[in-house]
Amino acid sequence: MFDASSTPSDTLSQLIRTRRSVRDFLPKDIPEALLNQVMADANWSPSWSNTQPYRIAIASGDVRDKLSRELCALFDLGMAAQHGGVLAKLRMLLTRRGLPDGDFSTQFPYPDDLQPQRRATGAGLYEVLGIGRKDISARNRQMRRNFEFFGAPTAIFLFAHKGLHEFSVLDTGIFLNALMLCAHANGLATCAQGALATWAGPIRAEFKIPAPYRLICGLSIGYASEAAVNNFNPGRSELKMLQVEGH
Ligand SMILES: Cc1cc2nc3c(=O)[nH]c(=O)nc-3n(C[C@H](O)[C@H](O)[C@H](O)COP(=O)(O)O)c2cc1C
Repeated sequence: MFDASSTPSDTLSQLIRTRRSVRDFLPKDIPEALLNQVMADANWSPSWSNTQPYRIAIASGDVRDKLSRELCALFDLGMAAQHGGVLAKLRMLLTRRGLPDGDFSTQFPYPDDLQPQRRATGAGLYEVLGIGRKDISARNRQMRRNFEFFGAPTAIFLFAHKGLHEFSVLDTGIFLNALMLCAHANGLATCAQGALATWAGPIRAEFKIPAPYRLICGLSIGYASEAAVNNFNPGRSELKMLQVEGH
């Protein structure tokens, strides 16, 4: 994919600019050695005092399938309660099944100043998918794809240490970006997914997660399919630089 004669800065620039979030994967496993290599490279990410205050859980094969089934079931319960009548809502409140149990809330009102960009990204994605603005069930089906890991053979869950407060979350984000770029450099596609932090229960039941670690994000990883959704490129608005006071 990359020109062997290009300089490191050209290569890095190209890598950063051509990585895209992929939302449809081929049912093709990632060779273990390749995934290990990508993880080992990402492990060179910088962190607060070099503490590397994150833990990583990798789900492939049966574990991946089980987690996807369980997360989809929770999503379905949540949708049933949201769109169903009083009884469905009451059942959820009483049983608590389907209520988000993540370590961080993934459902919050967007700040006004971030709304335009959020709306533009959502609108662009749904347009590529051919989903109309008012087609709530198609939108929900697309949302559910998050919990199918968009068909990816492997899902990765990232946990940040509570004790470093926001800084471990920051470090986990730095690691996440390195992971996505290393994957891209090796012909693998990824989609970071905050949605995968909505329910922590199934993931906690599957992996031994030390008490201070909190699920902050998930990531689907594998090989991109040719689906149109993978051509979606939301672009970037220009970097918003702050002006010196008084100018
Ligand atoms: C922390 C984080 C959480 C994200 N969560 C989701 C998600 O839950 N579902 C999804 O489809 N995309 C998710 N994305 C992907 C973003 O929508 C995507 O990065 C953004 O629109 C820019 O597009 P690009 O990655 O193709 O450049 C997430 C990205 C990040 C960095």
